[in-house]
Amino acid sequence: MHVQEQVQLRNLNTLNLNAIASHYVQINQPSDVIDALAFAEQQHLNVLILSGGSNVLLPQHIQALVLHLNIQGIDVLAEDEDTITVKVGAGQVWHDFVLYSTQQQWFGLQNLALIPGLVGASPVQNIGAYGVEVGEFIESVQVYDRELKQFDSISAQDCHFAYRHSIFKDHPNRYIIVSVTFKLLKKANLKLSYGDLKQAVGDDQTAENLQNQVIHIRQSKLPDPKEYPNVGSFFKNPILTAAEFGKIAQQFPNIPHYLQANSNVKVAAGWLIDQTGWKGKQLGSVGMFHKQALVLVNYADATLADIKNTYQTVQSDVKQKFNVQLEPEPVLYSEQGLIQAHHA
Ligand code: EPU
Repeated sequence: MHVQEQVQLRNLNTLNLNAIASHYVQINQPSDVIDALAFAEQQHLNVLILSGGSNVLLPQHIQALVLHLNIQGIDVLAEDEDTITVKVGAGQVWHDFVLYSTQQQWFGLQNLALIPGLVGASPVQNIGAYGVEVGEFIESVQVYDRELKQFDSISAQDCHFAYRHSIFKDHPNRYIIVSVTFKLLKKANLKLSYGDLKQAVGDDQTAENLQNQVIHIRQSKLPDPKEYPNVGSFFKNPILTAAEFGKIAQQFPNIPHYLQANSNVKVAAGWLIDQTGWKGKQLGSVGMFHKQALVLVNYADATLADIKNTYQTVQSDVKQKFNVQLEPEPVLYSEQGLIQAHHA
């Protein structure tokens, strides 16, 4: 284990925020976690778990030990006629694993192609796109439990997956994910119900084509972080009660919405932001992307303060027009390396 000091994390977070970590260590195998935590305890440092950096907001100085998850490996654990169970290291690149699964003719994850980040972060916010959430294909998540001080495996049921949510959000500093075990299908069962995906896929209803169409749709709407530093959707799509939705729909009948199981209604945050005039608009060096208003972009050398300034203005404009409070999706860290609540 090699702990480095004063490490610049600018290239390790997709918003390209300047962030200097007082201490940094790469985790290449599960046992490194134990050594790193012992070091942090000895030095009285908090621990910040960094995965792909594609969903984090980092301050300029971080007085903490950053654990950069880099555990590799794809191991088939079991197989039957219909399914294959495969354990994947937390540090594998998500999109590469999706491409690999399609090559192997393992089905289920194709709708989730091109989502940035690493496999270990995928269960945390239960990544989802085009009608699929990763939780549907997770069997269990292997973790180091900092409370019980032991490695453990949490079944999908106990992960409490919901829209952009899981047990890992409820207990932000407790678990360090070291691998994820997926149960994938051996017979294709393509999910084409989202938007115009079915039309895009057309007659060539193969997993490869579905994956390619998802990649194509994402590339046409979402900015490439290398060109436009961003963290994907900046806000969650808000879930309203039927009554709250009714009030808005009366005034704005075209509002894109999705009925939920419990009569609540999820509405498109991108549309709300678009309607307030924020699509393609900037405040200083930070703005909302011109092809998808839900994505916040760092156009120059923004700091976390600049990011906050813009997103809080967007929040307040949406609140004023629709009386809806948008909740940011990325995880915000304090200078002490702890996960913080977002303030409106
Ligand atoms: N819309 C606008 N203007 C915009 C953006 C969107 O009017 O600037 C409208 C669209 O026309 C559409 C609706 O809003 O009617 C929804 O837009 P879209 O299908 O692009 O999806 P989204 O709700 O904006 C969500 C996820 C994305 C995911 C897509 C596809 C969240 C917060 N975002 O976006 O996830 O890729 O659906 O499934 O749930 C991410 O989490 O980082 C992410 C990119």
